[in-house]
Amino acid sequence: MAVANKIKQNINPYLLRKLLRVRKAQAEDAEAIYEVACSVGTCEKVSEQGFLVDDYQSDPNYYKMKIRKGINSLEHFYVAEYDRIYAFMIAYNKEEWLHDNPKWVEEVYWSPEFDMRKINQFIVVDKTAVLADMTGMGIGSLIYKRLMEDLKAKEINNIFAETIISPAPNFASLQFRKKQSYNLAGVRYEQYKGTLYTDLIYHKQVE
Ligand SMILES: CC(C)(COP(=O)(O)OP(=O)(O)OC[C@H]1O[C@@H](n2cnc3c(N)ncnc32)[C@H](O)[C@@H]1OP(=O)(O)O)[C@@H](O)C(=O)NCCC(=O)NCCS
Repeated sequence: MAVANKIKQNINPYLLRKLLRVRKAQAEDAEAIYEVACSVGTCEKVSEQGFLVDDYQSDPNYYKMKIRKGINSLEHFYVAEYDRIYAFMIAYNKEEWLHDNPKWVEEVYWSPEFDMRKINQFIVVDKTAVLADMTGMGIGSLIYKRLMEDLKAKEINNIFAETIISPAPNFASLQFRKKQSYNLAGVRYEQYKGTLYTDLIYHKQVE
């Protein structure tokens, strides 16, 4: 991506992190969020770089509508912005998540070391995406920090996040979970658009 490469050459990660502001997404961000999604959500799934499952360019109207709907309805939809939007994160609270995935708790093969019965309120981080070529500069961690602050203020103590390991493993996401000190809590198999996906379910306490 030419724009991202140019920015990356001209700015150091430390300065960029200082300049970036993480805020809640607004309706007018939909186009820019879609661009970020397109940069890492293509038909090609590169495990080392990380990817979103959907191919966003395959149906622009549908995906833009989905993004708009998310912005309007979700409490934890964030963007990282400076002179443009560099990244976004979509997280669901328990009610929102179970509304869209009513059988999720039963579908997960929970680890014997993890007791879901002890979990009351939780958040599921569904998607985090940083503009292609701008990954590994701390932008994902910055949005993540903001989510943690908001959860702490609301006294929500548990975060789940899913990472795909099949048909293509998302190594960038796995590394990111490790860095954020998540623990493996379970595994889920999910049919999506005719493909069977295997997701690792990670859990972490809000610190
Ligand atoms: C996963 C993702 C959100 C992480 O955000 P980020 O801004 O790159 O991550 P940060 O720079 O804040 O965090 C750094 C850690 O993430 C991991 N990481 C990020 N990109 C990586 C890559 N390409 N390969 C391996 N590890 C990577 C590393 O552990 C890294 O730690 P390090 O810098 O100490 O080595 C980002 O890489 C991305 O958008 N990838 C494409 C989409 C995606 O895979 N999303 C996750 C699935 S929803």
